[in-house]
Order: sequence, then structure tokens, then C-alpha cells
Amino acid sequence: MKILFLTSAHNSLSQRLLIELTERGHDIRVCVVATGEEMIYAVSDDAPDLIIAPMLKIAIPEVVSSRYLCLIVHPGIKGDRGPSSLDWAIANDEKSWGVSILAAAPEFDAGPIWASHEFPLEADPPAKSSLYRGPVTEAAVRGVLEAIGRIETDEFKAGSWRPEKLSDALSYAHGRLRPPMKQADRAIDWTRDNTATIVRKVRAADSAPGVLGSLLGTSCFLYGAHYEDRIKGPPGRILARRDGAICIGAVDGAVWISHLKAKGDPNAPEAHCDLAQSGLGCELCDMEFCSVAGIKLPATQVLGPSLRGVPEMPLPIDAPDDHRTFREIAYAEEGGVGYLSFDFYNGAMSTTQCRRLLGAFLHARSRPTRVIALLGGVDFWSNGIHLNAIEASADPANESWRNINAMDDLIFEMLNTMSHFVIAGLRGNAGAGGVMLALAADRAYAMSGVVLNPHYRSMGELYGSEYWTYTLPRRVGQARAMELTQACQPLGAKAAREMGLLDDAFGEDANSFEAELRARAARLAQDPELRAMLREKHERRLDDESIKPLASYRAEELERMKVNFFGPDPAYHEARRRFVFKGNPPPQQGRAPISARTEPSQEVLGKAVVRPMPDDASRSAPSRDAIGSAHAPRLEPGESSALTGGAWGARLLGMLRRKVAAAQPTRRDQ
Ligand code: COA
Repeated sequence: MKILFLTSAHNSLSQRLLIELTERGHDIRVCVVATGEEMIYAVSDDAPDLIIAPMLKIAIPEVVSSRYLCLIVHPGIKGDRGPSSLDWAIANDEKSWGVSILAAAPEFDAGPIWASHEFPLEADPPAKSSLYRGPVTEAAVRGVLEAIGRIETDEFKAGSWRPEKLSDALSYAHGRLRPPMKQADRAIDWTRDNTATIVRKVRAADSAPGVLGSLLGTSCFLYGAHYEDRIKGPPGRILARRDGAICIGAVDGAVWISHLKAKGDPNAPEAHCDLAQSGLGCELCDMEFCSVAGIKLPATQVLGPSLRGVPEMPLPIDAPDDHRTFREIAYAEEGGVGYLSFDFYNGAMSTTQCRRLLGAFLHARSRPTRVIALLGGVDFWSNGIHLNAIEASADPANESWRNINAMDDLIFEMLNTMSHFVIAGLRGNAGAGGVMLALAADRAYAMSGVVLNPHYRSMGELYGSEYWTYTLPRRVGQARAMELTQACQPLGAKAAREMGLLDDAFGEDANSFEAELRARAARLAQDPELRAMLREKHERRLDDESIKPLASYRAEELERMKVNFFGPDPAYHEARRRFVFKGNPPPQQGRAPISARTEPSQEVLGKAVVRPMPDDASRSAPSRDAIGSAHAPRLEPGESSALTGGAWGARLLGMLRRKVAAAQPTRRDQ
């Protein structure tokens, strides 16, 4: 079938549907649309057999829906309507939820029901975005496949099967029309709400729009809620901090909040905010992205010096998993396997996070185990360098450089680990350098439904590092590596396995994937052949090194990255700003220019010629012994640059004054 996707964003769900339908032989065209006119144009371009709207925030014009069958993916159970389905499902403590595939109708979500699939909701629900990427996506795939199956059956063609009318479903279904959830519905009352209520409220709004609150006089949106079982203190008071998160007291305990987004000055009427202009407060606002917001960042970064006196309460990575708390990195051993789990919000890995993970990896490698299994987060394995942290930094070009070098340092050690067999376990999706991180392992396994984006180019022609020029061709060959990095298409786990990018894909959900991965890791640790396998890997590494040293791959990649970060073309910086500010970056009045300490030559741009670098990475050698240990020299061209922006990161937070959902968006479904 010729299927056209009309979608507000080609997000994880839309990418997953693209993969599943393409694998089944359908011909898919994806159009990211923001207006009705764009939809009309998309259809006139090439008439489809079917239109699917994986995530559409605006109505399909009647001229389109009357001519084509248009199926809308709605993240709600039968009868459910409205733009805040998942928010209400989490907030109302629903025991199960679902996804319905509806035909487009003049009224939102009121069309006939083609399919509807339900799934259980845990008592301790995940964040809305996690639900969306997990069970909602799985149910949506099942629903869309079922609907397409029906279109293709004789029953439908003969008229003996018809989609169910909403009015019929309402006679028995539990779902109903719900209003958009507003900040007033989300507000936390620290003097009354218990920890379960607070966590539920934050998760119902995570990743957007967040729960608006006030912390130490800063008006901000809250994200990343975690229970805390041990720390106690007065409700509403910030009791502790750890790895960027803050712990806040509640009536019955405490909760961690990992991320905040500053809202700006609540007393200053915002030029671009209608509610502020008309004198109304945020309570009425149901916008996904606040027009007066800053950048979503670790909570301690947003609150800054006002946290003075709040104690840091670190948790060792190998502390027993015996109570609920906030921890990004955990290490545990079982049956000769060291399990190193890391879960970074949105899969973004800042310089500090990379360095902490490197420290944890080196610890894992110092242990008398035989296998190290790296387990990324359930939402994301990794999405590479932390673009938000970079954007908020005083000098984004230099911070980009520091971040990519920190990633490279981690990957260098993985590639040079000869004492252990390293397994990467992808429970969630991965993008850009995050995919390449997995390729540095000896075995890369992913859950069957995982979506990979093994490319960098869409971020302003970013070249990428993470030793990808070594690890990707090593797995898929040079031609395929070029194709993957140039075409910028999402890749399903099964296709990735077939081309050798992954070693295997299994498990229908994160739990079954992890169970199988643990079984495989344990078998490997006991395998009498393991010693020979380690020897073989060491020999292969030495052979590869003699052909081309790892340091040369790194130096060549970083030479190109230097052009991206410090060169005259601002494409990467502009793309990053568009990404961080969801397509609407604020004006950059007075921002420090990008430091251009290293002027790239045209030759470098054109041919990727290896040139000596400030602290030449080519000097780094692989570890000599079986337990690789030497770091590749870190390249820090701008560390001492005169072009620092002073307090720019902080000032930027207050600068954003943009109305985002300007034109048509009238609803949101995620
Ligand atoms: N740094 C900071 N935040 C990141 C990030 C990164 N590298 N990658 C993703 N995110 C954030 C997004 O801003 C979004 O935040 P929000 O929902 O809290 O507002 C969230 O993670 C989910 O990302 P989204 O783009 O909505 O998910 P998706 O499943 O539709 O797409 C990717 C996944 C990986 C294709 C897409 O996020 C992407 O292109 N990321 C950038 C990858 C990159 O270029 N990294 C740098 C080079 S290594």
C-alpha cells in the first residue's frame, strides 16, 4: 500500500511505525506538517492509498479526510478523547490504558474506531514520555497493523465489517472526553501532597510541559521525579543534592527532582505570551512548551548558587539496591558478570556524566569478573552528547569539544578492554553518538522494538566522533556505513541485526530483554572458550591497530568536529539551538561569538586530511597489557580560550521570550 504519514513530528512512534510498515512491504512517505495547507499539498503531490497520522496536533482538513481514509493514532482507550489522554491516565491512577486507531472526523477523536489495544498500567507509573515510547508505541503498532489488515480483508471490501462508531463504543467503554490538563490541575501542594501524589503529578507532565512550581524563589517546571525512601525533612524544603538532582521533603518522606526548566521572571509580562499579556496566570496554560521558558537542565544547574548549604549526598555506584532513591549509575555483580547500568535523562550524556560513567567502567574493569554488561536506560540507551548542557554553557563550542572528548575517552577504554568481554544491552532507543557507544562493545544486543538513528548529519552536518569511522565499517562495511550516516534514516533493531550492526535483537519488552541478556551474559562468563575469545579479540585489536591506530581514527574525526564546532559555518550551532528550543530558538542578542581558535582549512573540509592537532590524539596507543588502561590524550583546544561568555549560560535562561505554538497547534497527544 502507498501510505502517507502526516505527523507533527517524525518522533519515536512515527519512526517505529515507518520501520514496521516498511518491513511489511508498504511504501511509506513521511510528511512533517504544521498546517492544513501543508497537508493538502502533501496529498496533491502524490495520492496515497491510506493516510496515517502517528502524532498530529492539528486537524486534517476536510478536503483531505473526505477523499482519503485517514487513520489517527490516539493514545487513549476506546471512547477517550482530548489532548491530555496520557496525562489524565497517569494522574487518575488508571489500572490499564490503551491506544485507539480512529478515522479522522470533523471533531477531534470522534471518528469511527478501527482498532483499540490496551495494556496494564503499573501502580508506580512511568513518566508520560516513557509510557509513550514503551507500551503506547507497542499498542499503536499492533493497532495500526490490525487496521491495515482490516482494510485489506475481503470483509471490509464487501462491507460486512465496519469500524465501530464512537456513540456505540460509549455505551460500554470506560473512556470519555477530557479537557486539556492545565497547570492548575498539575500544581503540587507541598504541605498536603504525599510522595506518591507528587511523583504521579510530575510524571504525568514529563517530558512536557512539566509541573510549574517555585523553588528557592525561582519559577520553574519540574521533571524527572524519583522516590526517596531514607532522606526525610520538612515538606517543600530542599534537603540534598546528587548528580544534578535535588531531593525535596514531603509530608511523608521526600522525592528527587532531576531536571528543571526556569520559567523566567513571573512578574515581567512576556511580550510573546498571550496569557501573561492578558494578565492571566500560568494555571490556565496547557501549552507543551512554555514560551517564557529556559532550557531543561539538571536541577542544580538551574538553581545554581541559591543551593548553597544544601548537602551533596553521593551514592557509591555499588551501593546495594535496597531502597528507592535517585541514581544514574549503578554497578552490581552476579555469576561472574559485572552489570553496569546507566540511565541518563533523555539519553543525553554531558561531559560530567561521561566522566562518571568512565570512572564506573574502569571500576567494573578492575573487578575479578569476566564479562561487563552495560545496560542503558529503558527510555534511551544513549543519544550522545548533551545538547541542552552545551547550549546552556558559557561557551557552547568549547563545551561541545569537551563533551565529545569525554565520550571518546569512555569509548576508547571500552575498545581497549582486553580483560573482559563487554556487552552493550540496549533496552531503549539510541541516536547519533549513542549508537556508536554501543558499537564499541564486543557484543551489541537490543530489544526487538528499539529504534536506532546511527547518524549525526541532521544536527547541522555534524561529522561525529565516538570512533565511529572504526566501529561502524568494522560491523557493516564501508559502503553501508556511508549509507547509514548519510541517509539519516531510522533503523529497526531487526534490520540492524541483519546487516551486522547489532549482534542480536530479542525480547518484546524491557523486562524480557533484560532477563535474556542476563542469561546470555552469565553463560558467557562460564564459557570455557571465553579465555580464547578474549585472546582472539586482543589479537584482532592489535592487528587493527597496526593497520590504523585508534588514535588516528579519533584525530581524523575530531579534526572534522573542530570544523563543526569552531569553523566559520554555524550550521551545527544553529541546528542545536533549533533542537534544544523545539524549533523556536530565541534571538541571540549579544551572545559571545563562537571561538575560532583553530581555523580549519578547505582541505580538511573537503578531504578529511589528518592534520596534527594541538594535543595530538595520534600519540595515544592502545593499552599494552591485557587490561587496557591508558587514556587517549584529551584534546581541549578551547579550555583556556579567551572567548568565554562569562555568565552567559545563566543569562540565557532568563532570555528566552518566545511564543512557540504560534499558528495552529490546538492539541497535543503525547
Ligand atoms: N541532548 C539533549 N537532549 C536530547 C538529546 C541530546 N543529545 N537527544 C534527545 N534529547 C531530548 C530531546 O530534546 C527531547 O527532550 P524533551 O522531550 O525532554 O523535550 C527528548 O530527548 C526526546 O527526544 P525526541 O527528539 O523527542 O525523541 P525522538 O525519539 O523523536 O528522537 C533522536 C530521537 C535521537 C532521533 C533525536 O532526539 C535526536 O536527533 N537527538 C539528537 C542526537 C544528536 O544529534 N546528538 C548529538 C551528537 S552525538
